[in-house]
Amino acid sequence: MGKFIWLCQIRSLLFVLFLLSVVDCCLSLSSSSLNPTPSCLPEDTSALLQFKNTMSIDDYAFFSYCYPKTNTWNESTNCCSWEGVTCEKATGQVISLDLSCSKLVGSLSPNTTLVRLRGLKRLDLSLNDFGASSIPSGFNQLVSLTHLNLSGSYLSGSVPSDISLPSKLISLDLSRNYLLEFDSHSFDMLTRNLSKLENLLLDWVNISDVVLTSFMNLTSSLKCLSLERCGLQGDFPSEIFQLGYLEYVDLSGNSLTGFPLSPIGVVPSNFLTFPVII
Ligand SMILES: *[C@@H]1O[C@H](CO)[C@@H](O)[C@H](O)[C@H]1NC(C)=O
Ligand SMILES: *[C@@H]1O[C@H](CO)[C@@H](O)[C@H](O)[C@H]1NC(C)=O
Ligand SMILES: *[C@@H]1O[C@H](CO)[C@@H](O)[C@H](O)[C@H]1NC(C)=O
Ligand SMILES: *[C@@H]1O[C@H](CO)[C@@H](O)[C@H](O)[C@H]1NC(C)=O
Ligand SMILES: *[C@@H]1O[C@H](CO)[C@@H](O)[C@H](O)[C@H]1NC(C)=O
Ligand SMILES: *[C@@H]1O[C@H](CO)[C@@H](O)[C@H](O)[C@H]1NC(C)=O
Repeated sequence: MGKFIWLCQIRSLLFVLFLLSVVDCCLSLSSSSLNPTPSCLPEDTSALLQFKNTMSIDDYAFFSYCYPKTNTWNESTNCCSWEGVTCEKATGQVISLDLSCSKLVGSLSPNTTLVRLRGLKRLDLSLNDFGASSIPSGFNQLVSLTHLNLSGSYLSGSVPSDISLPSKLISLDLSRNYLLEFDSHSFDMLTRNLSKLENLLLDWVNISDVVLTSFMNLTSSLKCLSLERCGLQGDFPSEIFQLGYLEYVDLSGNSLTGFPLSPIGVVPSNFLTFPVII
């Protein structure tokens, strides 16, 4: 009998130990999911560091509120903790790079390592000085890209036609690069392929070569179309204003005709549901 009780005590002790280990296991699981620090992939770390090495920092560049985010990038630390870098929790893949307003100066190389960040969904390089270099043609490799912002970053030359190959693009902002040109062919590709596009901002980009009727091929998902000072001339197709989700149009600073004009904008009653600036 005594032996039996002793066995029972051992069993319940073991059971309690088992329970404790289960609880402990669950606690450590939940604490790790509460505080996830994914580990950066080595190939992403090296792509980011190589990009950093092609750029220099000009402390006097641009606005005083800009600051060099890449200064915190240190190869001995996890890139997922670097300023401007966001990784996916499950895989550690870099999914967002925000280097907007980072006092970067240097040319954006045609073989930039940024296009090796294959998981990238958002890329923001706006408000830097890429010294009149061209947009690299490798963006088609970023198949998951949804948001691209290269606004005000001193880019020049022709927009490569493969910019419309990441066909998941929701937002494309190339505005305020006054040396940049969008030719008719590349723009046609864009209007036909970017079926999820909601924001298209090309202010100050030279798109005078674009056939105005190609705007009619823009996707119906479009919400914001900003084309200030794009060198557009002629009859702008007013069908655009009937796109169902449109919320904002800026056509100011062009020489457009083809729709009723007034000093404050386009005023036919059916267009009045959203601001149109001309
Ligand atoms: C990177 O971090 C290590 C350890 O924290 C430090 O010793 C080193 O100086 C840092 N390097 C740079 C370039 O900041
Ligand atoms: C990019 O190409 C240039 C010359 O074309 C070369 O000097 C440079 O090392 C290359 N960079 C990378 C990261 O491959
Ligand atoms: C692109 O970046 C500029 C400057 O950082 C910002 O003002 C603008 O809103 C951004 N564009 C989009 C579409 O978010
Ligand atoms: C549209 O995108 C797909 C892949 O996303 C690509 O295969 C195709 O060539 C593109 N078409 C145009 C006209 O850009
Ligand atoms: C815009 O580009 C066209 C060529 O596509 C060129 O003839 C024209 O001079 C450019 N306009 C400006 C203001 O740079
Ligand atoms: C609009 O798209 C159609 C078919 O995709 C094409 O045939 C036409 O040339 C395009 N229009 C313009 C002005 O690019």
